[in-house]
Amino acid sequence: MNMLMKLLVTGGAGFIGSNFIHYMLGAHDDVSIINLDALTYAGNLENLQSVENDDRYTFVKGNICDRDVVFDLVKDVDAIVHFAAETHVDRSIMEPAIFLNTNVLGTQVLLDAAKEYDKRFHHVSTDEVFGALGQNDAPFNEDTPYDPRSPYSAAKAASDHLVRAYYHTYGVQITISNCSNNYGPYMFPEKVLPLFITRLMADKTVPVYGDGLQVRDWIHVTDHNRGVDMILRKGRIGETYCLGGKDAEINNLNLTKLLLKIMGKDESHIEFVKDRAGHDFRYAVDYSKAQKELGWEPQVSLEEGLTDMVEWYLSHQDWVERCLSGDYQAYYDKQYIKR
Ligand code: NAD
Ligand code: TYD
Repeated sequence: MNMLMKLLVTGGAGFIGSNFIHYMLGAHDDVSIINLDALTYAGNLENLQSVENDDRYTFVKGNICDRDVVFDLVKDVDAIVHFAAETHVDRSIMEPAIFLNTNVLGTQVLLDAAKEYDKRFHHVSTDEVFGALGQNDAPFNEDTPYDPRSPYSAAKAASDHLVRAYYHTYGVQITISNCSNNYGPYMFPEKVLPLFITRLMADKTVPVYGDGLQVRDWIHVTDHNRGVDMILRKGRIGETYCLGGKDAEINNLNLTKLLLKIMGKDESHIEFVKDRAGHDFRYAVDYSKAQKELGWEPQVSLEEGLTDMVEWYLSHQDWVERCLSGDYQAYYDKQYIKR
C-alpha cells in the first residue's frame, strides 16, 4: 500500500462507514478519504460534522450504481472500501428490489471500476450470509457454506460471490470481511439497540419479536473498523476474514434486560410482538483466522460498550430528535449546496 493512501469509502454517511472515516482519519496521518454516499434515509452527514473541514476528507453525493460517477472517482484512488448497502432485514422483507439494486448491481459497478483501474477492493459484508445456527452448532467461520435466508442476506451473499468472482476471473485485488451485529454511537434508530434505547428514552415499551430467544453476537463498531483497517493493510489478497464480538453472544430477551438495567427501567417496558418472518435463530462468529493472521481481536465487552452507547444517546438528544423527525436529511442542502 502507498505511503499516502487515498481511499474511496462508499456508504460513509451510514453508521459503520462514518465510524470508519473517523477512525481512519484519527488513527493515520497517511490517509485521505473520498466518501461516496447516495444519502438514502440511512445516510446522515451530521455523523461527519467534525471532519467536514479536514483537508483529507471530501464528500461526494452519488449512487454506487452510477457508472460515470464511480469510474471518475475510482481512477484517482488507491483503494475502495465498500460499505454502501441497504442493510435492514425488516425493510428487505417489505421491499427486496432496492436491496438487489444497491447490494448486488452497485457492487458490480464498483468491481468493474476496480478492474478497469487495477485498484485494491475491500468488501464489507455480514455473517448473515452463512444462514442461521442452532443452539449447539459451532460458530460461523470462513469455511462455513453460504445459506442466506432473508432478502438482505441473500443480496449480500450475491455481492460476496461477485467479489470473489472478480478475483478469480479478472485478478481484482480483493478482500472480504464478514462481521457480526455491530452497535455503537450514530446508529440509526431502526435496528434493535438504537430503536430500544430511543424508545426507552421516551419511556415507551420495546417490541421484542416472538419469544426473544434468538441469539446475536454483538461487536462494537470500533472493533469492527479496526479489523477492516488491518485487513486493508495486512490481509492476504483473495481472502475472507470473519470478525465477531468479545464473548458477546446473547439472546434478544437477555439483551433487552441488560439494556433495561443499564437505563434504570423495569421489565414492564418489554412488549412481545409478532415474530419476524423467517427469523434467523442464531448468529455467532469464530474470528480465530483474523486473530492468527492479523493479530486482530475485539476489545470492547458488550456491557461496557452498551453502557457507553446509552450514555452517547442520552447526551445526543438533538441528534436523536433530528433522526426521528427526518430533519437530518436537510443537512446536505444546508452544508453543501451554496446559494
Ligand atoms: P447503514 O444502513 O447505516 O448505512 C448505509 C449507507 O450506505 C448509508 O449512508 C446510505 O446512504 C448508503 N447507501 C445506500 N445505498 C447506496 C447507494 N446505492 N449508493 C451510495 N450509497 C448508498 O449501514 P451500516 O449498518 O453502516 O452497514 C454498512 C455495511 O456493513 C453494509 O455493507 C452492511 O451489510 C455491513 N454490515 C453491517 C452490520 C451491522 O450490524 N449494521 C454488520 C455486518 C456488516
Ligand atoms: P436487527 O437489529 O434488525 O439486526 P439483524 O436482524 O440484522 O440481526 O435485529 C437484531 C435482533 O433483534 C433480531 O433477532 C431481531 C430482533 N428485533 C426485535 O426483537 N425487535 C425489533 O424491533 C427489532 C428491530 C429487532
